[in-house]
Amino acid sequence: MIALSKLTAMRAVRFHEHGGPDVLTVDEVDEPEPEYGEVVVDVEAAAVNPVDTYFREGAYPVPHLPFIGGSDVAGTVAAVGDGVEEFDIDDRVFGTGLGNGRPGSYAEAVAAPTDLIAHLPEAVDFADAAALALVGTTAWQALVHHAAAEPAETVLVHGGSGGVGHVAIQLAETMGARVHTTASSEYTEDLEALGASEVFDYTRDDLEAAVVDAGGADVVVDLHMDQYLQFNASVANAGARVIGIGNDTSSGSFDDIGITKGKEIRYQFMSMYNADDIGAVLERLADLCARGEVEPVIYGAYALDETAEAQRAVLEDSFVGKLVVTL
Ligand SMILES: NC(=O)c1ccc[n+]([C@@H]2O[C@H](COP(=O)([O-])OP(=O)(O)OC[C@H]3O[C@@H](n4cnc5c(N)ncnc54)[C@H](OP(=O)(O)O)[C@@H]3O)[C@@H](O)[C@H]2O)c1
Repeated sequence: MIALSKLTAMRAVRFHEHGGPDVLTVDEVDEPEPEYGEVVVDVEAAAVNPVDTYFREGAYPVPHLPFIGGSDVAGTVAAVGDGVEEFDIDDRVFGTGLGNGRPGSYAEAVAAPTDLIAHLPEAVDFADAAALALVGTTAWQALVHHAAAEPAETVLVHGGSGGVGHVAIQLAETMGARVHTTASSEYTEDLEALGASEVFDYTRDDLEAAVVDAGGADVVVDLHMDQYLQFNASVANAGARVIGIGNDTSSGSFDDIGITKGKEIRYQFMSMYNADDIGAVLERLADLCARGEVEPVIYGAYALDETAEAQRAVLEDSFVGKLVVTL
C-alpha cells in the first residue's frame, strides 16, 4: 500500500545546464512519489559536498537536465512505497548517495531507496545528521572496511580540516588509533581537540621527514592523491594500507615506485557510492554520533535559495568541517 504525502508541489534547486554555481535556480516542481522500496523524505537538512559541484559542472554524469543535485539528507518520512517494511510515516531518518543517477536532496522533499537511509536517533539533530552522512560513510569505508585499522596503529589523514578529514580523525581515534593529520597550521588546535595527536602544516618543506620522525603511517587516508602518491609511499610503514579517496587534478605519479615493494604497501582507491550497504554504515555512524564519539563540525548553514553560494564556498573557502543547507 502506498501512503502519499499531502504536498503536490515543492521548491527544488536545479541546474538546467552544466556550469558554475550561477546555473543553479530555485524552481517549483512536483513533489516526488515513492517507487517500490523507496520512501519520500521531507527534507530538514542537506549537506554540501565537493561531489555536488562535479555533477553540476558535468564532470560526473547526470541522467537528465534539469537535475536536482545533493547527496546528503536528513528529515522525516512523508510517504512510504510498496515493499518498505522498516520505515513509517514521521520516522526521523538520514541518508546519502542521492543525486547520483537519481534526483538529490536540494529540495523540500526527496525520494530515497531504503538501502541509502537509516533511522536517526532523537539525540542527533537533522543538520548534524546531514553533515555526517556522506563524509562519515566515506571515512568508515576507508578506515573500517578497506584499511581495517587496528588499535595502536598510526593513521595519517590528509586534509584533516575538511569534511571527510575531520570525521576520519574522530573515527580513527575512536577505533583506538594514533591519529596524525596534514592541514593548514591555523587549524592545529581544532584538530587536536578532535583527536589528532600530531598536526603537520601541509606547506612545510620538511613535511615528509616530520611525518617519518613521528612514526610514519600504518594507514593513510588520502584526499589529495595527485599530490601525495610518492609521499605516502615514503612515509608508509611496512604493511601499510593507503586508501585513496580524492584528487584535485586528474594525474598523479611516483618518482620512486620501488619502495612500495619492500614495504608491501597496499593501495585501495575507493568511491563511497560503491559501499555494499550504506544504510548499515549510517546506523553505526548515528550511534557513534548520539554517543558523542564522532560529531560533525558545522561551519556554516545556508537557506535553500543560498545553495549556489554554499556550493561556491565548499570549493573556494577554507574552514574546519561542513556546510549545510537547512529548510
Ligand atoms: N572517493 C570518495 O568516496 C569520496 C568521498 C568524499 C569526498 N571525496 C573527495 O575527497 C576530497 C575531499 O573531500 P572533502 O569533502 O573533505 O572536501 P573539503 O571539505 O573541501 O576538504 C578538503 C580539505 O583539504 C585541505 N587541503 C587542501 N590542500 C591540501 C594539501 N595539499 N594537503 C593537505 N590538505 C589539503 C583543505 O584545507 P585548507 O582549506 O586549509 O586548504 C580542506 O580542508 C574531494 O576531492 C572529494 O571530492 C571522495
